[in-house]
Amino acid sequence: MPDVSPTKWHLAHTTWFFETFILKKFVPGYRAEVPQYAYLFNSYYNAAGDMHRRDLRGLVSRPTVREAQRYRASIDSHIDSLLSDAGEKLLNEIESILVLGIHHEQQHQELLITDIKHVFAQNPLYPVFRELKIDIALPKTAPIQFLDFEEANVEIGHDGRGFAYDNEGPRHRALVSAFSLASPASISRSSKTTVMRVRNSGYRSGG
Ligand SMILES: [Fe+2]
Repeated sequence: MPDVSPTKWHLAHTTWFFETFILKKFVPGYRAEVPQYAYLFNSYYNAAGDMHRRDLRGLVSRPTVREAQRYRASIDSHIDSLLSDAGEKLLNEIESILVLGIHHEQQHQELLITDIKHVFAQNPLYPVFRELKIDIALPKTAPIQFLDFEEANVEIGHDGRGFAYDNEGPRHRALVSAFSLASPASISRSSKTTVMRVRNSGYRSGG
């Protein structure tokens, strides 16, 4: 996959988010230590300017890992100062962007693991990210059973509570056709309940 990103790129990119959308916007006279990072670590935020090609990220030998970590430490310290000195009004303005940046970072934590595992999988030595002892005495497999669900009119999309990305709304109704779901007999009753809950109320109940 040529689109895989190096680990340090994820760190620098999530840092770039806080620098671009908070520091550059809310710190008067803010000057980036390395202005070229704006190009190097942008990704798909067209409104924030041009960006480096995603399929060339693997060739980004500079900044080094240490420099990317230094970049993060510097931005963290600027954010700390900004928040410590900000009044109530400014904090209210910053809050939603800060929360978005934290969720963006969480998303990249998942991408980061995916990319590391992908890179390891390309290596004929098959390095292991984290050794785990697993119990190989698997329980007996139950026969597959199909659970039937009737057609339903359901509500989908973010309901306004808690954080959501803008593509998770607006909330609207949708017609879900009748469907069947294969399930091992041993979990049929509980899984049907879980599917019904998810279909009726999103992921809130969690089963
Ligand atoms: Fe991103």
